[in-house]
Amino acid sequence: MRLLVTGGAGFIGSNFVHHTIRDRADVQVTVLDALTYAGDEASLAPVAGRITFVQGDITDAPLVDRLVADADVVVHFAAESHNDNSLENPWPFVQTNVIGTYTLLEAVRRHGTRYHHISTDEVYGDLELDDPDRFTPETPYNPSSPYSSTKAASDLLVRAWVRSFGVQATISNCSNNYGPYQHVEKFIPRQITNVIDGVRPKLYGTGENVRDWIHVEDHNSAVWAIIDKGRIGETYLIGADGEQNNKDVIELILELTGQPRDAYDRVNDRPGHDMRYAIDSSKLRTELGWAPQFSSFQDGLAATVAWYRENEAWWRPQKDATEAKYVTLGR
Ligand code: NAD
Ligand code: DAU
Repeated sequence: MRLLVTGGAGFIGSNFVHHTIRDRADVQVTVLDALTYAGDEASLAPVAGRITFVQGDITDAPLVDRLVADADVVVHFAAESHNDNSLENPWPFVQTNVIGTYTLLEAVRRHGTRYHHISTDEVYGDLELDDPDRFTPETPYNPSSPYSSTKAASDLLVRAWVRSFGVQATISNCSNNYGPYQHVEKFIPRQITNVIDGVRPKLYGTGENVRDWIHVEDHNSAVWAIIDKGRIGETYLIGADGEQNNKDVIELILELTGQPRDAYDRVNDRPGHDMRYAIDSSKLRTELGWAPQFSSFQDGLAATVAWYRENEAWWRPQKDATEAKYVTLGR
């Protein structure tokens, strides 16, 4: 199989490429990535020489057409992915998440290529803390932020291209990922690297907000299950029953790093901050037989702390600029 992976130098995409090279001897991987601030070729260093890397933009239609013409399957991870950034400047989110997805869809339509679209649970908006329901593939779209609304738009383009043009596509909407190679702007790596630097972790608002954590390896094994066995036109929700509130996660990071559990600061809340995400992944589990392997969030988090301790050379170049941006936001 010739596989084109967009966004393969980012967090989830690079882990997906590692996973694929490790487990799928029959797959030839080409990565297309623009290497924005969030992309880092160093994340692909362990597989360098075993993949083809193309630096380029998913909105570059002639380039995308050439690469799609040479692929059997496209997995589309590339995106602007950070909510806080989308609140400061939404334009790159519209450009990459909407126009970029449109560009890929037109190419897979021309070439009849199988396409898997990576998306987020944030397209469904948020839940109340005491809501007994979780997100299902039938939950109406109700995104809150520029980030999640552009991801919702991209999902709807995929659905329309399936129905109107017969594009061979599937969609997955996953909850919050954690693990190695995640940019230090994101919640968990930000706090781990703050502690390493002797800086107190930063909790937005009350910290009651709940995220449904899944290890990136489990996300990627689910993506492979969908590529292998998913039904064309279907949406699969990926989650590992990992609901935790932010305050508990910060306290666990402090405990795992040998700090007092209250050694953190409360900072300004994120405008429009979604309260709770929660995934019902029973369709994926019953239809495709998928199950997560990381059953303990505490163990997965401890391994992630160890990874950031051991890989300072990877994250250090991003750290100061990231924190400088947060200072201007009071967060
Ligand atoms: P990331 O920000 O770490 O990586 C994004 C990658 O896309 C980077 O390598 C970047 O250089 C590349 N990119 C950005 N714009 C591009 C463009 N115009 N052309 C080519 N490449 C471009 O993101 P991530 O956290 O790995 O997320 C990957 C995908 O998974 C996204 O589609 C995101 O919406 C989705 N997702 C993320 C999470 C999560 O918890 N991080 C959860 C569910 C879904
Ligand atoms: O749900 C899936 C989504 O998860 C993905 O689609 C996004 O790409 C990904 O970034 C993530 O979005 P969140 O906004 O939930 O992730 P973030 O890491 O930015 O924040 C997680 C929670 O932690 C959120 O409630 C905000 C809070 N937070 C974040 C930071 C950076 C803090 O309390 N302090 C912080 O310093």
